[in-house]
Amino acid sequence: MNLWLNRLVPSVPADLTGPADLARYELNNAGIRAEFNENSAMGDAWRVEPRLDGSFLLTGGQTGLLYASYRLITGLVCGEEFLGSLSSAPKYALRMINCWDNMDGSIERGYAGRSLFFRDGRISYDPDRMRTLGRAMASAGLNVLCVNNVNVHDPAQRLLEDFLPGLAALADLFRPFGVRLMLSIDFSQPMRHGVSSADPLDPAVRAWWKETAARVYAAIPDLAGFLVKADSEGRPGPFSYGRNHADGANMLAEALKPFGGYVVWRCFVYNCRQDWRDTRTDRPKAAWDHYACLDGTFAGNVILQVKHGPFDFQVREPLSPLLLGMKHTNLAMEIQLAQEYTGHQIDLYTMIPMWKELFDELPADSIMSIAAVSNLGDDENYTGHPLAAVNLYTYGLMAWDPETDAKEAVTRWIRLTYRFAPEQEQTLAGLLLSSRRIYEKYTAPLGIGWMVTPHSHYGPNPSGYEYDLWGTYHKADRNAVGIDRTHAGTGYLDQYPESFRTKYGDPAVCPDLFLLFFHRLPYSFRMKDGRTLIQRIYDDHFEGLEETRDLARELAAIPFPEPDATVIRARMKLQLYNAGEWCDVINTFFHRLSGVPDDRGRIIYD
Ligand code: GCU
Repeated sequence: MNLWLNRLVPSVPADLTGPADLARYELNNAGIRAEFNENSAMGDAWRVEPRLDGSFLLTGGQTGLLYASYRLITGLVCGEEFLGSLSSAPKYALRMINCWDNMDGSIERGYAGRSLFFRDGRISYDPDRMRTLGRAMASAGLNVLCVNNVNVHDPAQRLLEDFLPGLAALADLFRPFGVRLMLSIDFSQPMRHGVSSADPLDPAVRAWWKETAARVYAAIPDLAGFLVKADSEGRPGPFSYGRNHADGANMLAEALKPFGGYVVWRCFVYNCRQDWRDTRTDRPKAAWDHYACLDGTFAGNVILQVKHGPFDFQVREPLSPLLLGMKHTNLAMEIQLAQEYTGHQIDLYTMIPMWKELFDELPADSIMSIAAVSNLGDDENYTGHPLAAVNLYTYGLMAWDPETDAKEAVTRWIRLTYRFAPEQEQTLAGLLLSSRRIYEKYTAPLGIGWMVTPHSHYGPNPSGYEYDLWGTYHKADRNAVGIDRTHAGTGYLDQYPESFRTKYGDPAVCPDLFLLFFHRLPYSFRMKDGRTLIQRIYDDHFEGLEETRDLARELAAIPFPEPDATVIRARMKLQLYNAGEWCDVINTFFHRLSGVPDDRGRIIYD
């Protein structure tokens, strides 16, 4: 079973009593002598002091001791020497994985098989695999696991009802790993129980949620809370009753407060039935328009979970303005490990360079938690593509410390997972770190996004969403492409602070890779390096394909063990095909529209 530590050290036993017990087991197993100084006030934080006799003194809360142990074990596996004392505390309180698993066993946007938690409408799991996952999460510093899809399909509502004991048993399994469960709930759930509405201001609704919270917390006292997708893509929510999202979230927060639970309320709210002829609505503006005016009105145990960009996990989006503009509200940033728009865990796409860019833009204390949509499934290797596990691991490191160095994190994962010679490690780290940029080059150009095959979101279809109702248009014609989102255009840029407006507002200054996100430009527009926009589009696509070929060649030279070697080879073949499709379709699309030839005379099909 392939998730870093499990590759190298035997699995953990079933009879663990808690995180400190697990920490002792792991250290013994790794041959590390240690003494524990438990200090519950430290929580997840820890300190490690090496002693002269070769042992270590570990100080921390129960979970802190566990994190310290994993830090020691993973460090030693990676050849680190622990000569001086080390201490650490996580930057974010909740470091969450959101699984989009349905109870029939399918996974929304899942690319690694079926659900690890559900099958045929019931809870169903392999306890050994749960422990492997718990260990993987703990060793990466992750502490919250939401097991069910944010789109709560029947019978997932029953997780709060007759499936509760099963869920409690699952929570017991994860507890020694310091991992708390979270549950996605259906805002209209009271109506399944004879309550006439789900209106958050209706006393009967409030009473129902309070009773439910008490029942749930009696079964799972450390449940992290509820995750809510409301008034979004057809899900029920407070809007049906003329209420706003603070009314909705605060109502649930009141019910969870006595038990220390959080309401994690997603901000993915936009008009998903837009008429493409409507040029006044600009989808990226939606989240800000709904929530910015509510800043300061949310209860202390509400966390607004905001997707990192204003659209939906495209390869390149600017940081969501909502993450910058809600200073009096708890925020979590949501990222997506599941490669929905980024290659379906077929194409290589290592995400940490992209996260680093996001964190560079994010002021230090603007968010207090972080969530990632899971890339897990019941495939033997858990992530479909064996190399996609690097995203899960490095996400954990970033969620603990956003200053984490991308190359070090990737190298650490390689060392924990495989045993390669140092040059091979370096080569693989380089390939992984360049994979996002390569993917970006052969897909939709310069921040425009959305040129994917509708619904599946794999492969090119430049106008697949153009006359549809999702608000994701590029408006390419024979002269120009893109949407003007500056003050003179849709006004989206006005939602940002001054520094962002300066950075992105003028096409002459705006970073190339964001040009078509913010501007509508003629194909003859001169880029900073003198190339025309159309030439840059052609060049990126040809280069992206060429670089994929190089990537495939270099990856083939790395001696992966089986079964990884076979899976990696097979997926690379598919990626090569995909890159070729993207390159040709996008270049042909723009060539047919613009009539401008490639100035290097390469083949573009007409
Ligand atoms: C995207 C994705 C959906 C998902 C939604 C969400 O739109 O395609 O499958 O439900 O995001 O984040 O809620």
